[in-house]
Amino acid sequence: MSDTKILLDESEIPTHWYNVVADMPNPPAPPLGPDGRPIGPDALAAIFPESLIEQEVSAERWIEIPEQVREIYRLWRPSPLFRARRLEAELGTPARIYYKYEGVSPAGSHKPNTAVAQAWYNRQAGIRRLTTETGAGQWGCSLALAGQMLGLEIRVYMVKISFDQKPFRRSMMHTWGAEVLASPTDTTEAGRRILASDPDSPGSLGIAISEAVEEAASRDDTNYSLGSVLNHVLLHQTVVGLEAKKQFEKAGDYPDVIFAPCGGGSNFGGVAFPFFADKAAGREVRLVAVEPTSCPTLTRGHFAYDFGDAVGLTPLLKMYTLGHDFVPPGIHAGGLRYHGDSALVSQLYHEGLVEAVAVPQLATFEAGVCFARAEGIIPAPESNHAIRACIDEALQCKERGEAKTLFFNLSGHGHFDMAAYDKYFSGELEDFEYPAQAIDEALHHLPQVEPG
Ligand SMILES: Cc1ncc(COP(=O)(O)O)c(C=O)c1O
Repeated sequence: MSDTKILLDESEIPTHWYNVVADMPNPPAPPLGPDGRPIGPDALAAIFPESLIEQEVSAERWIEIPEQVREIYRLWRPSPLFRARRLEAELGTPARIYYKYEGVSPAGSHKPNTAVAQAWYNRQAGIRRLTTETGAGQWGCSLALAGQMLGLEIRVYMVKISFDQKPFRRSMMHTWGAEVLASPTDTTEAGRRILASDPDSPGSLGIAISEAVEEAASRDDTNYSLGSVLNHVLLHQTVVGLEAKKQFEKAGDYPDVIFAPCGGGSNFGGVAFPFFADKAAGREVRLVAVEPTSCPTLTRGHFAYDFGDAVGLTPLLKMYTLGHDFVPPGIHAGGLRYHGDSALVSQLYHEGLVEAVAVPQLATFEAGVCFARAEGIIPAPESNHAIRACIDEALQCKERGEAKTLFFNLSGHGHFDMAAYDKYFSGELEDFEYPAQAIDEALHHLPQVEPG
């Protein structure tokens, strides 16, 4: 029998990140300023270091990973690729199922892959403090960890509903030395504006981003760091897909379909883009982003210019969006509650080069529990979305007698999400279909721009 874990040596950690822009048939639409004109790099300089701005606009296919970043990656990378034989047997499918496990990072997800890189570039630029937002807490933990390793102070605006639901994520951030605030706060103009209209606001990633950006823009020693969406974030995450390609080579296999949960798109881009390079060169591989029906950005959103945050402080990005003032229902996959999506993922989806599917909350937990009982690892609620879509495909393979190779990214473990599992077991979790009317309404709030 071939191996269950397909492992790489530390020396096989990629030396370069892969930039999908080099292989996109059309360049991504430029970010626009409030006047509707493309912004120059200067507009970002108040909150990002020059090196990351260069990566944001780069069309170079390969970008070298700094040696010190690779050295920190060695604490958990390369992450294992598993063949899910026990899950295959449980489902009785002829499909071969593989998953890459990013929960082996200290913070428990894929997010440190970019947190460490961003902290390093900021440190190089002489920055002392970083602000950020976090939803589920995975990103806040990752930046707290990276800040601790590279000597930066970190302040995290944590979406209030997660702040209340996930006290241990807060404890982790404190352990790594970060300061954590429940967003919306009354310490920023953006937070005060939201609280004035809704004192009980559960918060949203869009609101927390507004607060973190506002603070970073107002201080010279402070920059802002984003855990997803932006091109440089997706770039850093490609270590996942690059390692996976080597691991598939070792296994003597290649995926027919790849699934990844999609919030802002960094996890999906990270695992899928290196395979997109093959697709662009003519190889057949389906790349499927999986999102919640309660926050159906790609599957039901509008492809339009919109703000990345709730109150309109960021440049306008051309992306699938549910509207920047969208406050998603309090589902437990907190990392997937974002109104927009990466411009790169959005454009590839718009051009039909990647796919998207939305799955309801209860079905995702059912899939996660099935996976945990077969394979042992308890997945993060976000990861359960990919597992659901992968299991559905594996069951279709069973019906049709097809032995496809399926691959998903197990983006994180769910050890701090057990309250959500408890709710699932006690029947308290619900499905939530985002109402069509709310989606139509969002259209009216989109900024009106005529790209020049
Ligand atoms: C475990 C896990 N998986 C997936 C995601 C979605 O990530 P992205 O925004 O990169 O699409 C998150 C986001 O927080 C997460 O924590």
